[in-house]
Amino acid sequence: MTGRRPLIAGNWKMNLDHLQSIAFVQKLAWTLRDAKHDKGAVEVAVFPPFTDLRSVQTLVNSDELPIAYGGQDLSAFDSGAYTGEISGAFLHALDCRYVIIGHSERRQYHHETDETVATKVAAAFRHQLIPVVCVGETAEDLETHGASAIPVAQLREALAPVTRGSEVVVAYEPVWAIGSGQAATPAQAQQVCAALRAVVAEVLGEDAGAATRILYGGSVKAANIASFMREADIDGALVGGASLLLEEFASIAQYQKHVGI
Ligand code: 13P
Repeated sequence: MTGRRPLIAGNWKMNLDHLQSIAFVQKLAWTLRDAKHDKGAVEVAVFPPFTDLRSVQTLVNSDELPIAYGGQDLSAFDSGAYTGEISGAFLHALDCRYVIIGHSERRQYHHETDETVATKVAAAFRHQLIPVVCVGETAEDLETHGASAIPVAQLREALAPVTRGSEVVVAYEPVWAIGSGQAATPAQAQQVCAALRAVVAEVLGEDAGAATRILYGGSVKAANIASFMREADIDGALVGGASLLLEEFASIAQYQKHVGI
């Protein structure tokens, strides 16, 4: 991993209300400060529910906390009669830096297709948000196609609207590893992340291939983060369940202090 600032990102999913988000982010900031966390060395980001974002923004801005944040999704549209949707313009107005797009739970429960993902990636760029594009194979895909074919195809489609020079983050999350306690092996995750980096290089150019951060997600915890971060093409993690446990998440962010890194 060369020249890419690692990103440890917590996807809270549908957990923690706005009051809980304030307490959590405040304590996370204190814990990182006490651990002398170097934000230049490892970026930490949280992805709270939409209803928490204003509270997180106020806290992060007023206390100048070294924590980035973003939305868990956005609308493909900018405004209009789309009941329940959230515009990228609103996320931008709340100073969100990132937005997760195409998480497997959106694909599974909200029937998002690769095409939907591509239109949302375009929407993110219209509102100066950095998309965190999620790709990953199901257990069935793994059996039928091997590990990388589906994530590679998903990423190729998601990158279609991306112009050269735009920043994007890729998250490889094997669906079978999410919430299962059964993480991919570092070797398998590395193999897929290398294939994904090759797609970025092919579509957006060699420089983008070298600069783009590719995260691994799926049952990441403090005990296994270091083994992923040792791999050449893994630049961070998208953490679900463990991102709700304060000490555990702070320890994941502090992975450089774990043995062997
Ligand atoms: P877990 O870390 O709970 O497996 O979830 C991963 C995930 O889906 C992050 O987006």
